[in-house]
Amino acid sequence: MDKLKEYYQKIAKYSSASALLYWDMQTYMPSAASEYRAEVLSEIGSYAFIMSVSDELGNLLKSATPSSEIDEATVRVGLKEYEKYKKIPAEVFEEMLRVSTICEQLWQKAKKERNFEIVEPYLEKVVELSKEMTKYLGYDNDPYDALLDRFEPGMTAEELNRIFTPLKEFTVKVLKGIEKVGKVGDPFEREIDPERQEKFNRWLLTHLKYDSTKCRLDVSAHPFTNPIGMNDVRITTRYVPNDPKNSIFSTIHEFGHAQYALSIPDEFYGLPIGSSTSYGFDESQSRFWENILGRSLPFWTGIYEKFIEVFPEMASYSVEDIWRGVNIVRRSYIRTEADEVTYTLHIILRYELEHALINDELSVKDIPAAWNELFSKYFGLKIDDISLGCLQDPHWYGGSFGYFPTYLLGNLYAAQIYDAMKKEIDFDTLVVNGEFDKVRGWLTEKIYSKGRMYEPKELIKKVTNSDFDSKYFIDYVTKKYSRVYSSNL
Ligand code: CO
Repeated sequence: MDKLKEYYQKIAKYSSASALLYWDMQTYMPSAASEYRAEVLSEIGSYAFIMSVSDELGNLLKSATPSSEIDEATVRVGLKEYEKYKKIPAEVFEEMLRVSTICEQLWQKAKKERNFEIVEPYLEKVVELSKEMTKYLGYDNDPYDALLDRFEPGMTAEELNRIFTPLKEFTVKVLKGIEKVGKVGDPFEREIDPERQEKFNRWLLTHLKYDSTKCRLDVSAHPFTNPIGMNDVRITTRYVPNDPKNSIFSTIHEFGHAQYALSIPDEFYGLPIGSSTSYGFDESQSRFWENILGRSLPFWTGIYEKFIEVFPEMASYSVEDIWRGVNIVRRSYIRTEADEVTYTLHIILRYELEHALINDELSVKDIPAAWNELFSKYFGLKIDDISLGCLQDPHWYGGSFGYFPTYLLGNLYAAQIYDAMKKEIDFDTLVVNGEFDKVRGWLTEKIYSKGRMYEPKELIKKVTNSDFDSKYFIDYVTKKYSRVYSSNL
């Protein structure tokens, strides 16, 4: 067991170095350095991959004698991971890494020039390689499951279809109900200088009781969270002058991811169990802090005074006006800027297309037309600019098929967790009073302290005493938005 843990710690150190290089690349690195940095990252990345599928690790895993629950979970999760990735031939893995890196770079150019053809031939290779990978990764019925399982262990397309179909109908119904009520005024539709936005965001992190000795906030084009190493998690935000909501909710979102990473026990660090349960669970925490807590009336009641102090031009708005302003629902093109309600449709659209791609029901050249058609069906909006259509997100171009559903699963888990939490702690009072350590304490005890010892479906049941169910999200949305729009939705 000790030798096994030592080996994992070694891999963790390479991963830590590569995480820091990645963070630097996205924040402070001079732009001309990008080519060489990509080479360095790929060198370290493939070294860490070779270690993680080496015979030495395999032997250590098979000969280890676990003597505690933590040891048992380490070996169980470690073996599953090892055997899965061991099946992928090194040439296929390297080819995927190479092709997807080029494809993602070309995607940036294609998006800027609004020209799908620039990236099309490489995307075709990425899709082909992804399909090939499903054969090595293994699946029962649907090759898509092999890819999905990388991000959400135990989840299948069959289950996603069962959950997403009624959710789609529900969302369309709520959206129509909201639009019947008419528009809510948006106090945030104004220019605010980045300096004051930054001041407020830094205050927010202090208010949320973040630990500045273990975490730091910087700026990047696309906000992200990067756990660098033991006691070191970096988060980023962005300050858009005419969209002050953007920085506030990006900061809280990434803060949520960081809380999870920082609250996993130190003794799990570097081990297969030393990360969040799944991508969906990780997202459930960022979305919990951002939406359920950060867009709640108790939260805005607690921060209203400070908010008006930093942004005196908003003083004519009541706390309820501001709260309604951060919860406006509208049809829009960009996933990352979508509200809690329409977000569902953005994800289902992507899921349906990627599922069809992997199952040979859609070809790469037909993606733009298929996207536009589905978008018009779900959102009633026409896409004239492909950078607002199928070129908006990097995921497919970087080879991450099976990733998108985890965002929506995050929303669903978060609502179910919130329902359980409210039965045990006085959420509203704690949030008004800024006692976030008690909220975090509950989440740490139930979720963060478990690392990756359990699969998502087991963990959600342990936390909430109930099987995974989208009814909690449907309930949450119905109640909350009926109040936001003063109407029975
Ligand atoms: Co996130």
